[in-house]
Amino acid sequence: MAVNEQEFKSALKLWASGVTVVTSKTEQHGIKGMTATSFSSVSLEPPLILVCINQAADTGEVMLEGKHFAVNILNAEQQEVSNQFAGGSSQEERFANVAWHEGVLGSPILDDALASIECKVVQQVLAGSHWVVIGEVEKVACRDGDPLLYYNSGYRTLTA
Ligand SMILES: Cc1cc2nc3c(=O)[nH]c(=O)nc-3n(C[C@H](O)[C@H](O)[C@H](O)COP(=O)(O)O)c2cc1C
Repeated sequence: MAVNEQEFKSALKLWASGVTVVTSKTEQHGIKGMTATSFSSVSLEPPLILVCINQAADTGEVMLEGKHFAVNILNAEQQEVSNQFAGGSSQEERFANVAWHEGVLGSPILDDALASIECKVVQQVLAGSHWVVIGEVEKVACRDGDPLLYYNSGYRTLTA
């Protein structure tokens, strides 16, 4: 028998992760971005990563249509950026408050992110409420700093 939603969430929130802002762009829909913690590496050869995106998210629709996206790994100072990209504000407002530039495939790259990973979409699987989107990595950029973490429904930072 499947677990109920509350049981499911109570276990998953004990998984500590980094925090990303996943971005994309098409000519028709413009730039889109959303906060996501469902990021994982998949394969080394070829270099593949995945993100799981709710079917209802604007950003997911654009990623699948444009066939490219970027994963911006947030640094410890970017809690507000995470909140901003997690809903309650328009896409214009989300991008108006951060410095960004266009990446090689067209997806927005957040200038201050700890790392940015640019991908083309190579596979997409609809799994329940979410798209599992697999991307082949075309370019990465890494910067100095500490990561923003998410655990037990709250933000954390690394301590020595
Ligand atoms: C810490 C955190 C992690 C999140 N991770 C995900 C995720 O992995 N996948 C997802 O679909 N939504 C995730 N969300 C929710 C989306 O960020 C939110 O629904 C988003 O604003 C959808 O944007 P859009 O519909 O405007 O594209 C997360 C929210 C927070 C605060």
